[in-house]
Parts: sequence; C-alpha cells; structure tokens
Amino acid sequence: MSLPHGPRVIPFLHNLKWRGRFLEFLEYCVGRYGDIFTFRVIGSRPFVVVSHPQAIEEIFTAPAGYFDSGKANQAFRALLGNNSLLLLDGIQHQQQRKLLLPPFHGEHLSKYGQIICGITQQEIQQWAVDRPFAIRPQVQAITLRIILQIIFGSQQESSVESLNQCLSELVDSFISPFWWQRFSFPQKKQQLDRLVYAQIRQRRQETACSTPDILSLLLSARDEAGAALTDEEIRDELITLIMAGYETTTTAVLWALYWVAKLPQIREKLDKELCSLGSHPAPSEIARLSYLGAVCSETLRIYSITGFTFDRVVKVPLSIMGYQFEPGTVLSPCTYLTHQREDLYPLPKQFQPERFLVRQFSPYEYYPFGGGNRRCIGMAFAQMEIELVLATILSHWHLSLVDDRPVRPVGRGVTLTPPLSLEMVANRPN
Ligand code: HEM
Repeated sequence: MSLPHGPRVIPFLHNLKWRGRFLEFLEYCVGRYGDIFTFRVIGSRPFVVVSHPQAIEEIFTAPAGYFDSGKANQAFRALLGNNSLLLLDGIQHQQQRKLLLPPFHGEHLSKYGQIICGITQQEIQQWAVDRPFAIRPQVQAITLRIILQIIFGSQQESSVESLNQCLSELVDSFISPFWWQRFSFPQKKQQLDRLVYAQIRQRRQETACSTPDILSLLLSARDEAGAALTDEEIRDELITLIMAGYETTTTAVLWALYWVAKLPQIREKLDKELCSLGSHPAPSEIARLSYLGAVCSETLRIYSITGFTFDRVVKVPLSIMGYQFEPGTVLSPCTYLTHQREDLYPLPKQFQPERFLVRQFSPYEYYPFGGGNRRCIGMAFAQMEIELVLATILSHWHLSLVDDRPVRPVGRGVTLTPPLSLEMVANRPN
C-alpha cells in the first residue's frame, strides 16, 4: 500500500516533541508535502497526518465502524486500566460512553459553576503578593481540586487530599521523559488504586448520598440489560476522567493567563466586560460573557492543548480527499495544523480573540476537543471551567510575566504547555 509522501524516517519523535521543535517540523512538512503527509518513525507504525478541513469532515462524519481509536491508545492501559473509555472501540465504547456522558451535560453541568469559583477563590487567597512564583503548581492545585470534588464530592476532604498528592506524583512519573522518574510509577499507581477502591467501597455502603458526584452517578448507572458497573470498571473510568480532564484544563488555564499577562489590551477588554456584571456575579452570568468566551476559544486555537486528536485506525478501505487508505492505516487529525491555517485564521501566530466574534468556524475548522464519535465528553465542562477559573483569578489579581520574552510550547505527556518554569508576579488590581 502506498501512503502519501512525507519526511524519510524520523528517529527521535519523542525528543522532537519534548524539545519544543515538533510544531515547527509539522509546519515545515505541510509546506513541503501538502495537506496530507506520512510520518515514519523508528519503533512505531507510520501515521498519516491530516489537517485540511475537508479531510477532517470526512473523518468526523464517517460511520463509527470505519475507524478504531481505542486500539491506538494502548500506551495508556497501564495507567487507565483495561476498561477505560479511551481504550475501547465498537459497541463497548458506545455503551460506556453513554454511561459517562450525563454528568457532563444539562443540569449536572450547571451545578459545577459554584464549585469551580469557590475552589479557585480559596486557592488564590494564598498567592504571594508582589513576589515571583511558578504559576503551574498554583493552577494545578486549582484544577486538581475541582476535578476531584466533582468526581468524589466534598464529603471526604482528607481522602481527597491524599488523592490530590498521589495523583500529581503519578502523572509526573507517567509522563516523565526520564527513566529514573518513571521507575516509581508502579508503586504510585498501587497507592492510587488503594485510595480509589477505598472510596468506591465506602460509597457502596452508604445508603444515601447528599452530593450527586460522578462516583455516585456511576454507582447507580445501569446498562440496557440492567447490569451495574463493577468496582474495577468504576475505578478505570474515574481515573480516565481525572487524567483526561486534569492536565488538559491546567494547560488551557496556564496559556490563557500567559496571553492575558502578555497582552495588556486583552486584559483591559476583559476587565471592562467583567466589571459590567457588578460585584459577585453568578457563574452562569460569567460563562455567558462573549469576550471572555472568545479569549478562551483563541487560547484553545493557538496551541490547541493536545496538538492532535486520537488516532483513527482505518477498518474498511476508504478514500479521504482522493487518497485511498487500506485497513490498518493510522490517520492522525492534527488540530494544531488546522488551527494554524492562514486561509481560516489570518496571522495565525497572533493571539486575536476577536476572530471568534466576527466569524463562526465549522467543527472541522476548529476542533480543540476532537469530533465524531470520540469527541471529548468533558468539552462543555472544560470550557466552563477555563472561563470561570480565568475570570475568578482576574477579578482578584493583576498578573504580570517575570520574563516578557515570548515562550515556546513544550510537550508534557499529550499536551503542549507553557514551560514548567513560567513565573508570574501577582498584584492587587487597581
Ligand atoms: C481543555 C480541556 C480539554 C481538551 C483540550 C480536551 C481534548 C480532548 C481531545 C482532543 C480528545 C480526543 C477527541 C477525538 O479524538 O476526537 C478528548 C477525549 C476525551 N476527553 Fe477531553 N479534553 C479536555 C478536557 C476534558 C475533561 C475536563 C474531561 C473529563 C473530566 C475529558 C474527558 C475526555 C474523555 C473521557 C475522552 C475520550 C472520549 C472517547 O474516547 O469517546 N476531557 N479530549
């Protein structure tokens, strides 16, 4: 089978990603080979990078049976467990997805606003005034507490604290590029499993639960045959939701803070919009602000957090934009490249929230959360969380960058994040 052209063989994809040169390389490949090209990397199957909106549309709207994605996500099995939604395909994926969707929609979603604003307010009280500090750990503390509270509820503050500690160490050991840090992964995973299973068992024994958190919803969920989920299935899905939702939203909030600190005109417009709501606005009012929404959309466009969606492994012979693909071919929709197209986003390297106020983009032109039957189930929740955390921080602090030089994104696991050392200074707004 002949695949589209592409660079010869790339020996060190991981190194490229990690050193922050990967994005430039992708852009070079589009310039050299066009909208569809093949990456051949030592030690893995070749994959075809696609980014033209027409190709993205053809992939996202194809019947579910045309592709597998779980197959391509097996690297996460050790962390997420055999029953994780990310690893499933076909009917099993469809059924599990149906069980996991309700907590992220409708009335459930509207209850999370207060939790997000409350936790953010508590955490940012402790920030040092007028002294440089690393911003990542501060944002991580907020996003991790939010996701843990939404999943486990507020009943067991102390267990949630232990989970909090254990999870950040586990993520660091899982995605570390250094083998000696990855060495501690099995031990950290065991520790985490003990904590999560203890929560599940304890909650099964409770007759009534005052907070309808995700754990309770999963405990009461039944499939079409009326069967409940096992402890192991629940464990795997809880860890999946935490892992899928924690690094991604941390990274998004960090980028939003970076752009707002970097570009004073954006800060001014946001301040004006936030002030128009008066003091103590409801989270639902904040989430409706149009400029705030545009700033968050532009944040997710410019570096697109994950860079790619999940891979799609072709199951039946099919044609995409005139190219014929055989079963087994791996297609990689590249969010980053689509979001950098000049024809869609003039001056794509510039942070311009206004582009989202003057034009509506199709789900194949703008897709930070992927699409089709694998679209991120946390999308609405994540958008709300980024907006509310950002608005709450900006209402309390004026943040500036310690070093004003432009930063380059670095790879951390599957995310493209500001450098871990990014420092800011917080002052009270005037
Ligand atoms: C800025 C934040 C986030 C971004 C950028 C993001 C992005 C993505 C992307 C690109 C995918 C793959 C979609 C595809 O291949 O078509 C995905 C899948 C997924 N995301 Fe998110 N995500 C975010 C937050 C969250 C949150 C908060 C949760 C849950 C708490 C979550 C849970 C999931 C799950 C479970 C999947 C797998 C869906 C499936 O396989 O059917 N994500 N996300």
